[in-house]
Formats: sequence, structure tokens, C-alpha cells
Amino acid sequence: MGLLEIPGKVHDENRQGEAFLPADLFNGSFRKRFYIESYGCAMNFADSEVVASILGQEGFGATRNYEEADLVLINTCSIREKAEDTVRKRLKEFRRNKEQNPSMLIGVLGCMAERLKARLLEEEKLVDLVIGPDAYRSLPGLVKEAETGQKGVNVLLSREETYADIAPVRLDSGGITSFVSIMRGCNNMCSFCVVPFTRGRERSRDAHSVLSEIRDLYQRGYREVTLLGQNVDSYYWVDEQGDQAVTFADLLGKAALVSPDLRIRFSTSHPKDITDEVLHTMARHENICKCIHLPVQSGSTRVLQLMNRTYTREWYMAKLNRIREIMPDCSITSDMIAGFCTETEEDHRETLSMMEFAKYDFSYMYFYSERPGTLAAKRYEDDIPEATKKRRLQEIVDLQGRLSKESNQKDLGKTFRVLIEGDSKKSAHDWVGRNSQNKAIVFPKAGHGYTRGQYASVKVTGCTKATLLGQVVEESRI
Ligand code: SAM
Ligand code: SF4
Ligand code: F3S
Repeated sequence: MGLLEIPGKVHDENRQGEAFLPADLFNGSFRKRFYIESYGCAMNFADSEVVASILGQEGFGATRNYEEADLVLINTCSIREKAEDTVRKRLKEFRRNKEQNPSMLIGVLGCMAERLKARLLEEEKLVDLVIGPDAYRSLPGLVKEAETGQKGVNVLLSREETYADIAPVRLDSGGITSFVSIMRGCNNMCSFCVVPFTRGRERSRDAHSVLSEIRDLYQRGYREVTLLGQNVDSYYWVDEQGDQAVTFADLLGKAALVSPDLRIRFSTSHPKDITDEVLHTMARHENICKCIHLPVQSGSTRVLQLMNRTYTREWYMAKLNRIREIMPDCSITSDMIAGFCTETEEDHRETLSMMEFAKYDFSYMYFYSERPGTLAAKRYEDDIPEATKKRRLQEIVDLQGRLSKESNQKDLGKTFRVLIEGDSKKSAHDWVGRNSQNKAIVFPKAGHGYTRGQYASVKVTGCTKATLLGQVVEESRI
């Protein structure tokens, strides 16, 4: 399954192992071929497209079969211990192949490369290259060195690198929706989180290059872009002369003007940074999708303080009210961590009651996984027993299941403008698309002539916990 075919998901750092195949890099005769597999959040998947572009410029072709690759790359995630375990397992499989084919090079990219640095070469003996997220331009040079038998490491973090001038090689499996990276790094110091250490300081990409990438995507037939960053609301770019400043609200507004037929999404918003200006910009433009991913992490002010999230339970609730006031039809999704250090049953119940208050349409839910080097690992004991963490997580998951179902039931009888993304997973007789609120809607192809990349008006006639089911109500093709 292609990365962009996952309906209803803006980001999911549990995604793993999707190999992609840029058609033009795959077809044709090439001196060498690379294989790349990505794990983790959407930023990593977007970065793999940058890496593919860098390698393409150096004359590399791509392959979907790692066994025939000269260079096997794995773009890794460190967010939880489990994410790293998955990568290590996959590296073992690559290693077995290298034993048969010693000239094959194996490179580890991304957050695990940055976290473990040269140690990774000691731990994983057959790895040849370790390259951090800000060092992908050095990949071709390091590959050349590795071809002569030297191990290559570059994990330097940068305060400037945004890869603004590199046109990412797109996944051609979809061709309708795409990610556009607008910033890198994170300046927040959430105590549980490894990202500030693996991705470095926050920096915003040149607004002109963001907008020209979006225009180019639209001209190539894409109909939806998701602006990406760990904390998009703190986007702030000033031109070289220092006389033009672009905020996130400005960038959103400009992106929306590329075409009314191009949908704009964004992820992720830190609750402390999303401003009224952003909310009003969303409300003003029909094509800015009415969906905000606003991770709460915990419903307890005491735990939020330990997490260093810089807001209280009440403050977050007021922000939810503000969103509902300005955009009553906006869907709100979240991330939750169960069993953070010192979390009591009462703290946990506050998370559950926050979920009830927010009526999240969808959430990503995790139990706390201590990450070496983070503030929480240094300051607090990881003292909640695993069984308790798992039980609390299950309660959160069960509650979200009910909330998602209730949210879908409320949509029964409503008509939405749906961007058709492709065949539904279950049947080639049905289309799947998403509405502005990012909910997947499945509806029959028969009886109308719509195709992928078009918008259809679909009335919701049924639902499951995860998907709306509907019928086209009018054929006003766009
Ligand atoms: N920048 C975004 C934000 O602030 O919400 C997303 C950060 S992270 C890529 C995605 C989610 O992973 C977080 O929102 C958090 O719920 C979860 N997460 C991060 N560190 C974690 C940890 N140590 N254990 C469990 N979950 C974690
Ligand atoms: Fe991690 Fe917090 Fe930054 Fe998100 S905002 S990436 S959770 S430090
Ligand atoms: Fe994982 Fe790095 Fe993203 S740790 S979630 S791949 S920023």
C-alpha cells in the first residue's frame, strides 16, 4: 500500500516499512539502484522523498526489491522503544542479504541515526552508513567513501537546513495528496520527547519555495497538500533582506489561494501556538480543511506540568471552545500518553474526562516509553508498572472507539464534499475519499462518472467505527 493511500490519517508514527517507487527512477537503466524504507512520522516519509531526489540526481535508480539493490536505506524513528526494535529486526533481514551480497551497502537514516550516532556502527556491524536528518546532502559523497570500504557517518544537526531547493521525488502510487514540509526541528522541550534531540532546532522553510512546491503539485494534478512540521503554528519565516515576515496564518492563507480546488491540511499543532489568526484563516477559506490535530497528551494539569507542555487542563479546554466557536464543523484529533511518570488513577480519569469533553474524532494513543537523554528520563522515575500502563491505554482506546463511533453517527444524513483518492480497500466497485474533516467515506462507483482526484457530493447513509458509508447525491463535477 502506498503511503498516501491510508485514508483518514494525517500522520502516524506507527507507520512502518513502506517502500516507494518513483516511476521515473524505477524505469530505465541506471548504474546503481537504491531501496528505501521509511518508519515513523510523516516528516520521515517526506524526507525519504528528498533523499530519493538527491540520489536520483547522482544517477541512482530505485527498486522495490531490496535484494537487488546496491544501496539499502532505512529511514528510522526513535519516538518509542518499540519503533527502534522494529528497525533492528528489519536490519537483521538486510544483514542476511548482505552476507550473500557483500557489495551491498546498508545505510541508517533519520532519528535513530541521530540518536545513536557512530554507536550504531558498533551495535549493527554490517551497517555502512549512518546519516542524520540534516545531513542528507552528504549522502552521495558518503556512499562513494563506503564503496571503498570506509564506514560513513554524518549526524551533524543544522540550524539552517530545510532542503528548500530540493524538489522531492513524489510517490506516484497516489498522485492526489502529498506532504509538503514547511519547517524542521522543534524548540519545545516536552519532557517525554526525543524529537528535539534527533531533529535539532526549529527552522522555517523559505515561504516562496513552499508555495512554488504547492503550485507545482497542483499543476501536476495533486488536489490536497498537508503542510508538515512538528509544530507548524510556530512557522515564522523572514526573507533575507529582513523586510518580509510570514507567519503560519499568512502561509496558510497564501497556500489556500493557489486554487480553490486544492485542499490544504496541516499537522501538527501544539495547543499553545495555534492562534485566533490561524483559526480565522481556516474559517475564511473553504479549501483549508476543517480538521485540527491538537495533541493533549494528558488531561491532568499536574501531569501536563511534568510533561512541560506549558498549558493547563482548563487552558486547553478554553482552546477547544474557541475552535468550536469559530468553526463549529471542525474535527479535532489528539495524541494521548498513558502511564507517564507518577500518573495516578485520578490523573488518568482526568485524561478520560478530557476526551469526553473534547469529543475527539480520532486519536493516536500510546503508553509512555522512556527515551534515554530526555528530560523525563533524567528527572523522573518511570514508575508506572507496564500492566497498569497497558490497562490505562486500553481504557483510552476503548473510549476513543466510542467517541469515534458517536462522531460518525452524528454525520448520518449529512452531505460532504469528498475528494476521491482511489479504490476502497475492500472493493474495486467502491471509491474511498475524505471529507474536509479528514474522515474516510466509502461510496459506490456505479451510477456516476466520477474518478480519482475529483470532488463528489456524498450523503452519509451508514458508518462503522472508522469509516463513513455514503451515496453520491448530485453530479456537479469539479
Ligand atoms: N510534535 C507533535 C506534538 O507536539 O504533538 C508530535 C510529536 S510525536 C512525533 C507524536 C506523538 O508521540 C506525541 O504527540 C506523543 O503523544 C507521542 N510520544 C512522544 N514521545 C513519546 C514517548 N516517550 N512515549 C510515548 N509516546 C510518545
Ligand atoms: Fe516532541 Fe513536544 Fe516537540 Fe512535539 S512539540 S515534537 S511532543 S518536543
Ligand atoms: Fe519518529 Fe523522528 Fe518522527 S523520532 S516520530 S521519525 S521526528
